[in-house]
Amino acid sequence: MAFKQRVFSGVQPTGNLHLGNYLGAIVKFVALQERYDCIYCVVDLHAITVWQDPVELPRATREVTAAFLACGIDPKKHIVFNQSQVAEHAELAWIFNCVARVGWLNRMTQFKEKAGKDRENASIGLYSYPTLMAADILVYRATHVPVGEDQKQHLELSRDIAQKFNNDFADSIRAHGYDEAFFPQPEPLIQGPATRVMSLRDGSKKMSKSEPSDYSRINLTDSADDIAQKIRKAKTDPEALPSEEKGLESRPEADNLVGIYAALAGTAKADVLRQFGGGQFSAFKSALADLAVAKLGPVGAEMKRLVQDPAYIDSVLADGAQRARVMASDTMKAVRDIVGFVHS
Ligand code: TYM
Repeated sequence: MAFKQRVFSGVQPTGNLHLGNYLGAIVKFVALQERYDCIYCVVDLHAITVWQDPVELPRATREVTAAFLACGIDPKKHIVFNQSQVAEHAELAWIFNCVARVGWLNRMTQFKEKAGKDRENASIGLYSYPTLMAADILVYRATHVPVGEDQKQHLELSRDIAQKFNNDFADSIRAHGYDEAFFPQPEPLIQGPATRVMSLRDGSKKMSKSEPSDYSRINLTDSADDIAQKIRKAKTDPEALPSEEKGLESRPEADNLVGIYAALAGTAKADVLRQFGGGQFSAFKSALADLAVAKLGPVGAEMKRLVQDPAYIDSVLADGAQRARVMASDTMKAVRDIVGFVHS
């Protein structure tokens, strides 16, 4: 069966949103609104796989929502909500825990990185995190998932889970009159020059919320001065910028800054190098700082304005959750039939 094309993606409400989240995910979310029905979720159930302060979590949830809105996501035409308000995510995740294999989850590099050396002490939620991700996507039978490069492996697991569910329950799916491919194979959308934005201090490390140095990242709520200063201080090498992309090989910091410029300007790295190649790094950095401030300044200002009105944000989330619930409960009714649960 041809599935209705639908976009789903999520962002965790943990710490500050940064340029990696913006270029790798949120900018794409905004663009996809033109062509698809989109569902964008603040994944608070995922956030608590590591400890979250219960006083801080609602603030962070509202801040991510504010970022979605400030960047131009339209919560009337599309759906914006927080995950814990739609219980079907957790319900389907349980069923997927019984479909996915331990061997599959053991291969997940993000778990290995996040659990670190003290794996015995990691939460079970952190280990089964990708099955909840699969449930997020498949409870809406979403077909397209915009994410940064770091989520690729989780998306592959979602595809494996969808396929195994369809195979394991093939007879029951048919017996209940559903289409053979009950769940679609969700397609990751990982494109453009900034699918993996790197730390400004170390071009071999991903820009992340958990990196201790704030100079490693640009936060969406940073002031213009902070943005400019972080770019000025960003690590580079002594060479001038090359004129062609090949010249960026084995120059991770230069490659990263050129990628950031291209993504912010909506062009390709080759275009950026055509303009700045051969010139001094300092001139390029000051152009990059101007561009970053011009793009991020208004977003940060609008986020700050929106978070002043938590009642409005909560009403957006409640409305989105209500509409999401209708779709999710439809899927879950069918899943209960297929698995063989007696239900009313
Ligand atoms: P999270 O909250 O870590 O990140 C949100 C999005 O930002 C992208 N991203 C980056 N992109 C480029 N460069 C970077 N340095 C960078 N850092 C983060 C992430 O790839 C992501 O797209 N597991 C997900 C949230 C999630 C989800 C889902 C996503 C839960 N359920 C279902 C898609 C579909 C996560 O932790 O993202």
